[in-house]
Amino acid sequence: MCGIVGYTGNRSMDSVLLVGLERLSYRGYDSSGIAIVSEGELSFWRKSGKLHELEEMLKDKTLTGTVGIAHTRWATHGKPNEINAHPHLSHNRKLAIVHNGIIENFHDLRMKLSRKGHIFRSGTDSEVIAHLVEEYLQDDLVTAVEKAVLDLEGAYAIAVIAESDPDKIVVCRSGSPLIIGVGKEENFIASDINAIINHTKDVVYLEDNDIGVVMKNDFYVKKTGGAKVSKEINHISWDPKAAEKNGYPHFMLKEIFEQPMVVRRIISKMISDDKVVLRNFKMSDSKLKKIKRFIIQACGTSWHAGLYGKYLLEKYARILTEVDISSEFRYRQMIMSGNEVVIALSQSGETADTLAGIREAKSRFFNVISFINAKNSTMDRESDDVIYSYAGQEVGVASTKNFTAQLISVYLFTIYLAILKGTISEEQERNMVAELKRLPEYMEQILSQSDEIIKIAEKYYLSKEFLFIGRSVNYPSALEGALKLKEISYIHATGYPAGELKHGPIALIDSRLPVVCIVPKSETYEKMITNIEEVKARKGKVIVIGTYGDEQVKKYADDIIYIPEVSEDLSPALAALPMQLLSYHIAMKLDCDVDQPRNLAKSVTVE
Ligand code: M6R
Repeated sequence: MCGIVGYTGNRSMDSVLLVGLERLSYRGYDSSGIAIVSEGELSFWRKSGKLHELEEMLKDKTLTGTVGIAHTRWATHGKPNEINAHPHLSHNRKLAIVHNGIIENFHDLRMKLSRKGHIFRSGTDSEVIAHLVEEYLQDDLVTAVEKAVLDLEGAYAIAVIAESDPDKIVVCRSGSPLIIGVGKEENFIASDINAIINHTKDVVYLEDNDIGVVMKNDFYVKKTGGAKVSKEINHISWDPKAAEKNGYPHFMLKEIFEQPMVVRRIISKMISDDKVVLRNFKMSDSKLKKIKRFIIQACGTSWHAGLYGKYLLEKYARILTEVDISSEFRYRQMIMSGNEVVIALSQSGETADTLAGIREAKSRFFNVISFINAKNSTMDRESDDVIYSYAGQEVGVASTKNFTAQLISVYLFTIYLAILKGTISEEQERNMVAELKRLPEYMEQILSQSDEIIKIAEKYYLSKEFLFIGRSVNYPSALEGALKLKEISYIHATGYPAGELKHGPIALIDSRLPVVCIVPKSETYEKMITNIEEVKARKGKVIVIGTYGDEQVKKYADDIIYIPEVSEDLSPALAALPMQLLSYHIAMKLDCDVDQPRNLAKSVTVE
């Protein structure tokens, strides 16, 4: 979603804030802006469009000041134009705010403040915060922010600076992430560690209803309407270089090619002596053994990994598993009969819908196990147990390496449970682990076929729509293939369980429709062949993702991408790669911005 960064210290503001925005721009990128207080006076610059527009505007300026805040926006309320870009100013233009989240009662607040003479300039919900703080500001900015946030309903991470208090950045959060970065004679605030990691690795995580007061040489945190609280300073161990492209033209391509390495990393973390281990897992084995039902909830690509999890958990661990899209999960009656566990999957650990699902589940006393990539994220802190996906930082908005990492972590978690429950033998575990260990090499073989995939992309990039079909564990693969294509190339694409074709979507098939058929050697192979024949009979263009050496399927294929032979259980982790590459190269041909596709944001922190 939107990104926030702020700074107080001796460096020039533009050197910290513009770089911070650059590193946050994967979160939202329809407009950006900066406000600073310098010699007691507030100045601001805003621009619609991508960050380079703001950089261009500021290219001949050196911004010096005591405090500065900056924002990159992903529009929720109000068009993505300059007037709606953050920072927003108070009526008297002496105070500026940046905000992530949604203020649900902004209409009411705006009406009340308008009656008091406040003139609003934008169509956003956020602007109301600046006017509200101004309304409460008598002599102390901290008290004014504290009073203002008590009036707000919704989710927010806010940073405020004012002429009246030129040495402070006051921040507050409820439902949206915010951190303080601790430096020497300088301090930072950010919605995301990426923004500041090249300056400091020491951070304080704010909790909901924390107010942080950040000055050049000091900071403190207090509870809204309460006393000061002591906060732990966490040292981040990441290498900031992880957020660089390393010679690849795009983060997405770099991340696609990182997948073999990610699988090796997961193996090193989750397998010891050819047995699956769950590190730092708090739930006891005896409790795990008693689980009768899993309810998985997640969004987007993580939801697809959750659908895959259902097949595996039911097949091997023999545990009934339901899968929900998080934004729908809360509308269900969660029936608890004891021994159910809610599973959340999330790359960012910040997705508002998934987080809301976790909170709902916890309020009803369900245990929550989360599969998360981002350590120290809100979900990491709020879940009872966490299994990390060890994908490393994923910057491309389209999730790639984290998807395969989630598949593998779920696969290993299933093996762990199945061994505990005695539903698979130790020999089966050894075989499953042995096969997993071959996966990185198999992935490398697939990635080496890039040139053939480029040719297929060149052939089909002008198609108006695509269909993706698969069965069983490769039905989620079809959904994921379609999502990848549509989000980065803007071509309409739908994923279907292949058996469902004849119940409607077959009507779409004609000689212009490419149909990506995921058909590895598996129990459902023959049925997939029948479905492919159905497509062929209607003159659809068949792009097959099949197993090396499969001559039968080749007969029906207009184009074919081979993957090495693996068990059906692991085939989605291979099938994902050619589909990611196909989407990437189609998007390249169409000149789309793959790392920052229109209308999207990397982590969606609004419901
Ligand atoms: O961070 P999360 O895994 O919770 O994010 C969930 C979705 O927003 C995310 O997977 C989204 O669908 C991606 N753009 C997919 O590429």
